Amino acid sequence: MILEVNDIYTSYGLSQILFGISINVDEGECVALLGRNGVGKTTTLRSIMGLTAPRQGSVIYKGADITGKAAFRIAKLGVGFVPEERRIFPDLSVRENLEAGRKAAATPHAKEWTIDRVHEIFPVLEGLASRKGGYLSGGEQQMLTVGRTLMGNPDLLLLDEPSEGLAPLVVRDLGTQIARLKDEGMTILLCEQNAKFATGLSDRAYILEKGQVRFGGTIDELQENEEIRQQYLGL
Ligand SMILES: Nc1ncnc2c1ncn2[C@@H]1O[C@H](COP(=O)(O)OP(=O)(O)O)[C@@H](O)[C@H]1O
Ligand SMILES: [Mg+2]
Repeated sequence: MILEVNDIYTSYGLSQILFGISINVDEGECVALLGRNGVGKTTTLRSIMGLTAPRQGSVIYKGADITGKAAFRIAKLGVGFVPEERRIFPDLSVRENLEAGRKAAATPHAKEWTIDRVHEIFPVLEGLASRKGGYLSGGEQQMLTVGRTLMGNPDLLLLDEPSEGLAPLVVRDLGTQIARLKDEGMTILLCEQNAKFATGLSDRAYILEKGQVRFGGTIDELQENEEIRQQYLGL
């Protein structure tokens, strides 16, 4: 088990958002965190990443308790977070943006990430290497944000709504690329409102509603459970 989230409660000031969330991710898995807008997906990732510390419960990463540790420390331990708002440097070129993400791995990697390797996952970035980040399309920016995070050699990748706001054809490309990453052995926790997109890439899924887990199971179990799909995903 690379990540274990045990019964966390998280609030922003007085407003309580998560009510006892428990999820786990095994090495090499892609796990989807699904649910409509506002159910607590981003807050769950922020709680894992140490951006908003849980009030109760624990986050265990590679066997160590990281609950409430500073985000930069958690990043150093090998957790790569790709937030919903794609934070690239608009005045730096694509190549410079990737260079800016370079970081030594927390644990020795057989194959460290390089710009060439990022290009293998996202071929479109190669042709854009000298373009400024600010001149990229939404899809290209998303690919760059993920690529830059990969340059930090994460062992676990937290992706927050990567498909959001992208045209269907771009979403399809992004799906191919995330599948490629998974084939390379990357462990991924994928938050998505777009359940169809996320389930196509994942081994298992959790569905959140009002800050609680309402379903957890394999993608096959989710496909067979029409009631759950209709109630929480509208599928
Ligand atoms: N910084 C914040 N302060 C107060 N409430 C917030 C903040 N961020 C998010 N929320 C609220 O927390 C709830 C869950 O948000 P979020 O975790 O972003 O959901 P999701 O990612 O599933 O759309 C929402 O009701 C949202 O309005
Ligand atoms: Mg969100």
